[in-house]
Amino acid sequence: MYFGVDYYPEHWEEGRWEDDLRTMKEMHFNIVRVGEFAWSRFEPEEGKYDFAWLDRFLSLCASHEIEVMLGVPARNVPAWLVAKDPTIAIQAAEGHRESFGSRYTTCLNNPTLRRYALLLAEKLAATYTRHPVVSSWQLDNEYGDASPCHCDNCRARFIEWLEKRYASPDAVNKAWGLVFWGLEIQAWDQVWLPKKINRFPHNPGLLLDFRRFTSWTTEEFVAAQAAALRRISSGKPVTTNMQSMTRYHTDHYRMVEPLDVVSMNFYPPESYTTADLDIVRGTKGRNFWVVEQKAGPPGFAHPGFLTPKPGETRLFTYASIAHGADAILYFRFRPCSYGQEQYHMGIMNYDGSRNRLFEEIKRTGEEMHKISKAIAGTTVRNQVAFLHSYENRWALDQYHIHPELRYRDFFLAYYREFERRHIGVDVVNPRADLSAYRLVVVPLLCLMDDAVTRGIAAYVQNGGHLLYTARSGVKDRNNNVVPSIIPSRLGAVLGIGIEEAFALKPGQTNRIVTPAGGEYQVSTWIDLIRPEGAEVLARYADDWYRGRPAVTRNEYGAGMANYIGTIPEGRYLEVELSPILSRAGVSPVLECPGPLWVLRRTGPGGDVIFVLNPTDTALTVPLENKFLDLLDGSEISGGLVLGPYDLRVFMA
Ligand code: GAL
Repeated sequence: MYFGVDYYPEHWEEGRWEDDLRTMKEMHFNIVRVGEFAWSRFEPEEGKYDFAWLDRFLSLCASHEIEVMLGVPARNVPAWLVAKDPTIAIQAAEGHRESFGSRYTTCLNNPTLRRYALLLAEKLAATYTRHPVVSSWQLDNEYGDASPCHCDNCRARFIEWLEKRYASPDAVNKAWGLVFWGLEIQAWDQVWLPKKINRFPHNPGLLLDFRRFTSWTTEEFVAAQAAALRRISSGKPVTTNMQSMTRYHTDHYRMVEPLDVVSMNFYPPESYTTADLDIVRGTKGRNFWVVEQKAGPPGFAHPGFLTPKPGETRLFTYASIAHGADAILYFRFRPCSYGQEQYHMGIMNYDGSRNRLFEEIKRTGEEMHKISKAIAGTTVRNQVAFLHSYENRWALDQYHIHPELRYRDFFLAYYREFERRHIGVDVVNPRADLSAYRLVVVPLLCLMDDAVTRGIAAYVQNGGHLLYTARSGVKDRNNNVVPSIIPSRLGAVLGIGIEEAFALKPGQTNRIVTPAGGEYQVSTWIDLIRPEGAEVLARYADDWYRGRPAVTRNEYGAGMANYIGTIPEGRYLEVELSPILSRAGVSPVLECPGPLWVLRRTGPGGDVIFVLNPTDTALTVPLENKFLDLLDGSEISGGLVLGPYDLRVFMA
């Protein structure tokens, strides 16, 4: 288990390093991440590398027995490189070049950037491959979090990318439907990039393929950078940090392929949620590292400068671990009084004195010592999978079906119901093998292709339970609406056809009623379902479509497929999810009150159970069995009271 912090030696006088490392050691840190923005110090002039300062820092780390995750910068290039080739700057959709002077303003398709960044990677690999304290590499930072580039290099590569995927320009015409508004092309060099135009949008097929291409640019560069390191250095894991559900610019399922381990940032509760932890774990289906765990209010990117309440930093550290993190590195050690993040607090004060978070994280570090043996080798295995795809989110962005139908809110409404019930969730690529899951949830998976629908159908045929939601499967991989009655190829599985589908006005509602007398408000979207073998579980109660089916269930093969054709209020799932779960045989980790988070890591030595109270009031946890409390070594049975933001870790 790694426990550490992000540190920027280049921000401080060298005289402070020793003191800071001593403090880190006192906090039980065993790793520090450095260097991801330090290209201007690694190569202050073209070809003149200066690693002497880093060597001195690494020697101090060695003497304190602290390992180093070394950043390999790529996109925050030094000023001399932009001067040498100003076309390194991203060309925005509006046509202007991004200015030097912030971060992530450079184009990964620029040959100059590629040459120098890969040279730097090789140089760092050659210098540090045998260095005893450098134990892993972090490629750049938050890959993909930039504006898409529309420069000539990108256009040339986009055309090459299209040529590999489509047999001819005419195949592109057909796939994107370019006859619409008379946009057909006859030759590859007529392909255009979606730069800003008048008030009408670009073609949806072009927009989706351009996002695929932009993502591929990142994927391909990450693979090239990892390969540059591995040409020289072997054995040290290569990683890079992904972001939250609000940053879905890159297809992370593909981007992680060349990585040894996936990493992420975690800034809860405002901009990140616990679902982000599951999404990142799902990219490789393995444990992951949190290389930026929030410690202190962020300074610039997040409104409100919200500081963690007492106990919250410790709580979210355990949330990361409970969801599968094997490394926690806090962002950041000490606030920096200059630069764009000058209000970003850390676990120390500006003057290096210790603050409240210091004490909380130090305590957490002591606890890590106690639990690390028990959690070593454990992983997260859940009974429920949510299908999630980046392409789907890109397609939804390009065509807003309804202003209130937002993917993240929709996904989280379902996700939080499982969390409230203490049922762990794996978030997986729709192409993943689903056979191990008792229930598969398909939340707003608008874009599907044949392979995905075949996978879902086979899953149900073989005994799986499906919860499928409105607007899923309405588009094909070209971002075109499927020209058949939806749910199209899954019609037989779900036993329904959608006769009519339409939006409600923002704020407008209807009601659905169940045969057992349940009544729930619905809004936003209405599917009028024609049952074709499915049993009706709820019907609309008002308006001209009163009495028409809204929710159904169908037996198919050895399995069961449920369809929810509208957007019900939260209370609906609180009640009506229960029969689906019991038929599917899905069980909670523990039976206890809703607001608690209860999660499990499983390993050869047994289960480790995490019970976390994310609220500011004390909660009672009834416990039927006896558990060993890993934090204080006591045996617990009967129940306990968890204070605000408090937690327990048990061995089952
Ligand atoms: C992260 C980023 C860090 C820092 C931090 C501030 O997204 O990787 O470099 O900017 O946000 O909260």
